[in-house]
Amino acid sequence: MNSFINEVDFFKGNNPEDIAREYGTPLYVYNEDIIRDRMMKVAGVITRYPYRANYSCKTNTNLEILKIALSVGVNADAMSEGEMRMLLHAGFPAEKIFYVCNNVSADEMRFAIDNGITVSLDSLDQLRLFGEINPGGKCAVRINPGVGAGVHEKVVTAGKKTKFAIPEGDIDKVFEIADKYGLKIIGLNQHVGSQYMDPTPFLEAVDNLLRIAMRFEKLEFIDFGGGYGIPYHKLDDEKEFDMKSFSGEFTAKLDKFVREYGSAPMFKSEPGRYCVAEGGVILGRVHSIKDNYGVKYIGTDIGMNVLVRPSMYDSWHDIEIISDGKVVDRDKKKMEKATVCGNICESGDVLCKDRPLPEVRDNDLVCVLDAGAYGYSMCSSYNTRLRPAEVMICSDGSVKLIRRRETFEDMFAFY
Ligand SMILES: Cc1ncc(COP(=O)(O)O)c(C=O)c1O
Repeated sequence: MNSFINEVDFFKGNNPEDIAREYGTPLYVYNEDIIRDRMMKVAGVITRYPYRANYSCKTNTNLEILKIALSVGVNADAMSEGEMRMLLHAGFPAEKIFYVCNNVSADEMRFAIDNGITVSLDSLDQLRLFGEINPGGKCAVRINPGVGAGVHEKVVTAGKKTKFAIPEGDIDKVFEIADKYGLKIIGLNQHVGSQYMDPTPFLEAVDNLLRIAMRFEKLEFIDFGGGYGIPYHKLDDEKEFDMKSFSGEFTAKLDKFVREYGSAPMFKSEPGRYCVAEGGVILGRVHSIKDNYGVKYIGTDIGMNVLVRPSMYDSWHDIEIISDGKVVDRDKKKMEKATVCGNICESGDVLCKDRPLPEVRDNDLVCVLDAGAYGYSMCSSYNTRLRPAEVMICSDGSVKLIRRRETFEDMFAFY
């Protein structure tokens, strides 16, 4: 693909240079249509049984995006009191929120209980704590199915090398604690990892979780977690996650389970990245171009405080260059290797290394693709830089500011 921006008309006819001038850079820009489309796709993965996709809002908690999720009819999962509060603020009723926590205080758990939000417990100690503060209550437990999946060891969240969830060998202890405090285990959940394009390990974990589920009576739901990958190498024609064949294989496993269990609980999933990644880009300004000992450095205002994924996970993000409001043609003959970096005082503040890019000039815009997930939600104020603004290209083509840029007054307000 020569240009994703042009192919999908990401800015819907708006000039990205005008948007960058009006709202400043660095700037997160979202496309409502793409986000709606992906959320509708995850909502339809299972059709034969009662099924709900929970949007995993850690990926992006912008209120407007949460409202899109609500309007599309997906539920949501939350990892913290902050995420629960954002979801409630966006209008999600408590019964549409699932709180999947780990290592939290009694006070944070109590917030969920007091608001009628179902809690999943991630360890025997946390289950005990839940029993102490809410004897006789209902809850779920997060199971480690013994298999992990994911593109990087830091995003594998099940298997033998992770802090998450309760291993199969501890299920008897789960029953003992539940008995002691009169708890009703109404649901099981798992999340094996993130950004897999091949669902084989995920499907193996589904088998394991369903086998474990046979030991629990009258489960109201089983939640298989998220992790569906997106094509981060789309400019090199990487294929999309094959949702159709995935859905077929997944459903076949559920068929077998439902026959043996005798009924179908509500099946759930928790995708985050798939819902929002491709619907977001970052626009940044080129402020300096230099040659340092034979390496061409393109210096921008997209520091690791704006997008940390490349520095944190060595993640790849495709980059397009916009000059005078137009995407510069990626003509193979004219591509030149360059390292794109930000304005943070760290050598690791690099968006991509030795990447073939079309010609870049001072004041051009760098457009980082697939930044809608784990982008803004992982921003920081490192180097005392301001968090960027976010705008939405709405379905009707209008451009809407959906979160203003942080100000220095915001920073001083803590003191
Ligand atoms: C418990 C849980 N559920 C869901 C997700 C969402 O994963 P993804 O964004 O890869 O779909 C995560 C991500 O880390 C998670 O930890």
